[in-house]
Amino acid sequence: METNTKIPLYVFLLSSIFLLCSLAQFCYAVDTVTQGKTVADGDILTSEDQTFELRFFSPENSTFRFVRIWYKIDVQAVVWVANRDSPISNRNGVFRIGVDGNIVVLNGNNSLVWSSNVTGLSNNTAAVLQNTGNLVLSNNESIGGTSRAHWQSFDEPTDTFLPGMRVPVNSAIGEFRAFRS
Ligand SMILES: *[C@@H]1O[C@H](CO)[C@@H](O)[C@H](O)[C@H]1NC(C)=O
Ligand SMILES: *[C@@H]1O[C@H](CO)[C@@H](O)[C@H](O)[C@H]1NC(C)=O
Ligand SMILES: *[C@@H]1O[C@H](CO)[C@@H](O)[C@H](O)[C@H]1NC(C)=O
Ligand SMILES: *[C@@H]1O[C@H](CO)[C@@H](O)[C@H](O)[C@H]1NC(C)=O
Ligand SMILES: *[C@@H]1O[C@H](CO)[C@@H](O)[C@H](O)[C@H]1NC(C)=O
Repeated sequence: METNTKIPLYVFLLSSIFLLCSLAQFCYAVDTVTQGKTVADGDILTSEDQTFELRFFSPENSTFRFVRIWYKIDVQAVVWVANRDSPISNRNGVFRIGVDGNIVVLNGNNSLVWSSNVTGLSNNTAAVLQNTGNLVLSNNESIGGTSRAHWQSFDEPTDTFLPGMRVPVNSAIGEFRAFRS
């Protein structure tokens, strides 16, 4: 008896949640930014397996806003910061794919605060926050594929070494990668 009444209710609730999610696109974890999409201050980009998030934040005792990637499971563990040298002083900042195909951070006045700064990109690029915590810029059609990334946050580390990062140290061929606190 009890099982008979519970199963339909369970199915009903699941269907309702699914419907709500489909309508609102609210429950889906979005891990990709394509041309025309923005991550505004307050929005969140989440890796597919929910381990990492990209969002705006203020450090303790500061009102400045920075774009950071952090471990979702431990909100204290920031692993990467984009505009560390160019803080935004309000909550109108935007993270998006710029018209030149780069990943950019703009302040409330649409001025460039930070860019992945790659030259010669097509205007059809997309960025995905991978399950490793790596933010990868590639051509939209090869997102998730194995083709070479145009840019990746693993190549511009902040203060955190993550599994899967490569740290070339052959200065003879110009390889140099620095971590900064
Ligand atoms: C933030 O401010 C409080 C109170 O002044 C202080 O105790 C704390 O150490 C500060 N934290 C940082 C990270 O500066
Ligand atoms: C935006 O522009 C206004 C007016 O020029 C200026 O006062 C303000 O500081 C600017 N804001 C940012 C975030 O640069
Ligand atoms: C982009 O790269 C150029 C040349 O390396 C450099 O002068 C410029 O400051 C960089 N811009 C940003 C936003 O990082
Ligand atoms: C992207 O570039 C192509 C080819 O240069 C151009 O035809 C198209 O209008 C551009 N699209 C946007 C959104 O800028
Ligand atoms: C990016 O690729 C997806 C999937 O292939 C496609 O649906 C979408 O329209 C593309 N976006 C742009 C801006 O080209």
